[in-house]
Amino acid sequence: MDVLKATISIALLSQAVAAAQGINFGPSIAEITPEWNNVFPVDNFNREVTTPFWEPTLMNDTTTTEISQQLNAVSNASFIVYDKEMYRLLNVSDHNASKTVEVIFKFPDKPSYAQRQIHDGTVYVPEMNAVFFTDLYSPKPGYGMRAIPFVWRINLSNNSSPNFEKVYPDPPFTIANGAYYHNGAVYWVQEGNYTTPGGVVRMDPVTLKTQVVKNNFYTHRFNSPNDIVVSNSGAAFFTDGYYGHDNFNDSLNPQLVNGVYRWDMNTGNIKMVAGAADGGFFNPNGLSFNADQSKLFVTNRGNNSADANGARTIFSYDVTATGIARREVFAYTDAGFPDGIKTDRDGRVYGAVTGGVDVFNKDGTLIGRIKVNEDDVAVNMAWVGNWLYIVGRDYVYRVQLATTEK
Ligand SMILES: *[C@@H]1O[C@H](CO)[C@@H](O)[C@H](O)[C@H]1NC(C)=O
Ligand SMILES: *[C@@H]1O[C@H](CO)[C@@H](O)[C@H](O)[C@H]1NC(C)=O
Ligand SMILES: *[C@@H]1O[C@H](CO)[C@@H](O)[C@H](O)[C@H]1NC(C)=O
Ligand SMILES: *[C@@H]1O[C@H](CO)[C@@H](O)[C@H](O)[C@H]1NC(C)=O
Ligand SMILES: *[C@@H]1O[C@H](CO)[C@@H](O)[C@H](O)[C@H]1NC(C)=O
Ligand SMILES: *[C@@H]1O[C@H](CO)[C@@H](O)[C@H](O)[C@H]1NC(C)=O
Ligand SMILES: *[C@@H]1O[C@H](CO)[C@@H](O)[C@H](O)[C@H]1NC(C)=O
Ligand SMILES: *[C@@H]1O[C@H](CO)[C@@H](O)[C@H](O)[C@H]1NC(C)=O
Ligand SMILES: *[C@@H]1O[C@H](CO)[C@@H](O)[C@H](O)[C@H]1NC(C)=O
Repeated sequence: MDVLKATISIALLSQAVAAAQGINFGPSIAEITPEWNNVFPVDNFNREVTTPFWEPTLMNDTTTTEISQQLNAVSNASFIVYDKEMYRLLNVSDHNASKTVEVIFKFPDKPSYAQRQIHDGTVYVPEMNAVFFTDLYSPKPGYGMRAIPFVWRINLSNNSSPNFEKVYPDPPFTIANGAYYHNGAVYWVQEGNYTTPGGVVRMDPVTLKTQVVKNNFYTHRFNSPNDIVVSNSGAAFFTDGYYGHDNFNDSLNPQLVNGVYRWDMNTGNIKMVAGAADGGFFNPNGLSFNADQSKLFVTNRGNNSADANGARTIFSYDVTATGIARREVFAYTDAGFPDGIKTDRDGRVYGAVTGGVDVFNKDGTLIGRIKVNEDDVAVNMAWVGNWLYIVGRDYVYRVQLATTEK
């Protein structure tokens, strides 16, 4: 969010009117009061699932100017607050505080064959003080997703001036997506393509040498591995959905249901621990442990992000000695779907969605949102100390919070 823009724009709106209507506007924070949240001030609202709530188009009749002006002002805010806990997280006392989301990078334009660009796999490597993530170019109809030879590396040695650089894993990934740091290595999942099977690839972050470490389920190809976490004891959990086949035209016909696998890196044992077969998942995506690894959070998209019927859920599980158990609907997001998710030491879960990052407290209640630039979509995040780095489709952002990952 552009600091200046947010400040000027929100100032345009009469604060007295806004407060009377149930939103407290500061220079960059919009606090939605429970009254406004409980009963929307006009009746002619209806919102499509891909639209963030601050779009005035959620109303049929935008001649209700006062409300659409308010929504516009909310869209210009850097943070949306629903619960006071969000102020503690932002380390500010109230909506009058001035705090912003810093834009640290704008991506170069996508190649012409691409419909859009996506960036994922956001992973911090402490020994190098660097964050790695991928470029994915979702193809236009009639094309297939192309394997990209580089990943991005943010060098944070100079914290006030992060350096973005393309680096070249060797051999290159075949459509890499999520990634996790474990014991000095980065474990990426790659989607694969028609010729190269998807799976798990280990990368040495210093030499960038890569090695495929898992590429089949008893000689079945995985469909489209999307994200991965690895426990301290070496149990990897990764999601597998139909993204490659249904969206990106880059893989063979799926032969396996959608689900979450547990792959024990010590023994090589692999099994599915949650899946479409138990009604849980259709296109599972991001995963994250809580701080002590006793819980696993897994997101689900559904058949597509406009699917009102199947999308937008963060499930929580208890992690057991052999798998995961006791699935609960932890949170249901209201726009887009939670792609990457991250957690903090206080039990909060952060979901990257259309328009920003939704922050849920440990009970699964939405306490606020960290907004990204208008029309951008947050894809994934990485913690670096108490800074949350947010990688979107078009920009990279960071914000300092009063917590850390562990
Ligand atoms: C929000 O920002 C947009 C773009 O900068 C501006 O046109 C609009 O007037 C702002 N709206 C309000 C209510 O501040
Ligand atoms: C929006 O307007 C159309 C007619 O213009 C009407 O059929 C529809 O019910 C309205 N929707 C809402 C949510 O008011
Ligand atoms: C915030 O600022 C407004 C004026 O802009 C003021 O009326 C209000 O009392 C302030 N709120 C707090 C909690 O300080
Ligand atoms: C899939 O991609 C290939 C090229 O990679 C193209 O020839 C084919 O038409 C595409 N199919 C669809 C359904 O888009
Ligand atoms: C498929 O993956 C292989 C290995 O990464 C790569 O050489 C090839 O170019 C990829 N094909 C396409 C169409 O991107
Ligand atoms: C990161 O940048 C510093 C200079 O700020 C440099 O000394 C260091 O070698 C860089 N790290 C990598 C991995 O390139
Ligand atoms: C860090 O970056 C800032 C801004 O580009 C620059 O002024 C400063 O000299 C850099 N510090 C070091 C140690 O390179
Ligand atoms: C997703 O699509 C499949 C195949 O078309 C269908 O069987 C399934 O019910 C759909 N799931 C949802 C949640 O809509
Ligand atoms: C919160 O902000 C105050 C300054 O207002 C600062 O002294 C303190 O270190 C911050 N705390 C955290 C956890 O960031």
